[in-house]
Amino acid sequence: MLKIAVFVSGKGSNLLSLIDSTDKYRNSYRVDVVVSNKVDCSAFEIAEKFGIKKICVSEANRNSCSTYDELSDYLVNNNIDLIVLAGFLKKIPEKFVDKFENKIINIHPALLPSFGGFGMYGMNVHQAVFEKSCKVSGVTVHFVNSDYDKGIIIAQKAVDISFACSPREIAELVLKEEHKLLPMVVDRIARNKIRIANNRVCLVN
Ligand code: GRF
Repeated sequence: MLKIAVFVSGKGSNLLSLIDSTDKYRNSYRVDVVVSNKVDCSAFEIAEKFGIKKICVSEANRNSCSTYDELSDYLVNNNIDLIVLAGFLKKIPEKFVDKFENKIINIHPALLPSFGGFGMYGMNVHQAVFEKSCKVSGVTVHFVNSDYDKGIIIAQKAVDISFACSPREIAELVLKEEHKLLPMVVDRIARNKIRIANNRVCLVN
């Protein structure tokens, strides 16, 4: 069973979909710890409800939060196999990213390499897609490297947004697919069903 840490900053609907999908994927993975840069967030309430360990990480708030070094020690000592960024809004220090090479994945609510990079998070993404009058948007799950949204792509799902009349409607359509794609990718990683070669990720059957 793959032990995962889910990093969140807000609502945590992707965290919930990961937890809810464990049965569907026959417990190939388990959310072992939820990490947030905020002491209070709805995602932590979800963690609490399911009895999952919570860790706050922040270099600024030393009273209630761990540093990235402490967090990294915890993840290593507890044999966490994969870190899943699901709406984690803070830039992760390069040292931390380097330590967990090919062990950090992120979900992005658009089809990368478009609509990614600095400042492209949450509704900003859907607003930009809306302003370009795009008819297709989607979801990308990718490995994380030190460049925002530039790590190699693992999986994508396109979403028809022809009938969406606001950024909010686009967000709703995309989020539904996020909730399916992320658990599917984590399950594949758990079952060793992805290969990386020539800077390309292939899903294998
Ligand atoms: C999702 O749209 C995800 O793609 C993005 O942040 C949002 C998090 O939503 N990275 P939630 O907290 O999982 O509801």
